[in-house]
Amino acid sequence: MQTRKRPRAVQSPHIVSVSDLRLIARRRIPRSVFDYLDGGAEAEFTLRENCRVFEDVTFHPRHAVVVPQCELCTRVLGLDLSVPFLLAPVGYSRLMHPDGELAAAHAAGSVGTAYILSTISGHKMENVKTVSTGPVFYQLYLMGGRGAAESALQRARAAGFAALVVTIDTPVSGMRERDFRNGMKELVSGSLLEKIPFLPQILSRPGWLASFLRDGGIQPLPNVVVPGKGPMPLIDVSVALAESAVTWSDFHWIRECWPGPIVVKGVLTADDARRAIDHGASAISVSNHGGRQLDCVSASLRALPAVVKAVNGQVEVLMDGGIRRGSDIVKALCLGARAVLIGRAYAYGLAAAGEPGVSRALEILRTDLERTLRLLGCASVGALDRSYVSVPKSWETD
Ligand code: FNR
Repeated sequence: MQTRKRPRAVQSPHIVSVSDLRLIARRRIPRSVFDYLDGGAEAEFTLRENCRVFEDVTFHPRHAVVVPQCELCTRVLGLDLSVPFLLAPVGYSRLMHPDGELAAAHAAGSVGTAYILSTISGHKMENVKTVSTGPVFYQLYLMGGRGAAESALQRARAAGFAALVVTIDTPVSGMRERDFRNGMKELVSGSLLEKIPFLPQILSRPGWLASFLRDGGIQPLPNVVVPGKGPMPLIDVSVALAESAVTWSDFHWIRECWPGPIVVKGVLTADDARRAIDHGASAISVSNHGGRQLDCVSASLRALPAVVKAVNGQVEVLMDGGIRRGSDIVKALCLGARAVLIGRAYAYGLAAAGEPGVSRALEILRTDLERTLRLLGCASVGALDRSYVSVPKSWETD
């Protein structure tokens, strides 16, 4: 990994929120990479709504209560985590920073939580597992076909990955308009000639460009090894996701390849939640892929209560989408999530400064979380429930 020293930019006492890290990321990386990270599908309604919806939930604090110590730890799939958030799979992390998945996994382990490695990852899964002191999960897409997936699952088992996350909301890629405008496809898989129109935005980020070139530029995907062909070349996300679809009929085969816990990620309805349980899920993540797939679906937080109700305690319910503050995490826990996954919140830190940026993001969320609990008069994340929040009337009648 490149230097772990904390660059001055993320160390500054003026960096107090995830949105501050987002601004540093925007200054450090080319527009095509930043917009790939920051953007969503079509009109980005769901992307915006994922964050905005937290404003609909207001707190009911208990004042004049002594909270000498705040307990932030929880258990997910039988694993002890020191905070109720995990790092979500974020594809192409190595484009954001050469240390990519290694930096994120190491930072996650250092705070005592889990990291979920995307199939579309730039570092070998064995190295990612080794570098983290916390649990590491593997997220499965079927790109490269069943043969590539079987070899990945075998490697993940041998390396000691703790769980498998199966993402079910990518039958094709969502229409991420910013990626088309900015030349993301040309950057990752275009010829030099095709890259030329987009060179100015790349040349305007010399620091990123130098580290990208030192890292060897675009490299094949080390965790998608197609039998007889070797590692799959890095391809544009729309092509990658079109080849990645998982259907319920794949679950029998997935279960044969993976005896450990399975998390189904991308559930938005009570029906799909029940189907996931029927297909052997140990946990589900209520998710709309961070507003990057079907636009105009419910915000994740809005979909959470109905899913929690349908699941009725049979499996653990996680959620992801729009988490930018510790108070967002508290609200999701009050509405029944066991823990949340964070995506952009740590990826902005990664793009801003590598591992120190991820660590700063996690530190911000952790201190936010503890402060929110103290302000609420609640001593532990395990004690959070509906009595600490109120939701709009329309949510009650679901
Ligand atoms: C993602 N997400 C994602 N999900 C997944 O299952 N596999 C993947 O490879 C990726 N890749 C990816 C890249 C980028 C840049 C982003 C922002 C997101 C979705 C991710 O795991 C998670 O569902 C969302 O990021 C949650 O929303 P927030 O926290 O980013 O608002």
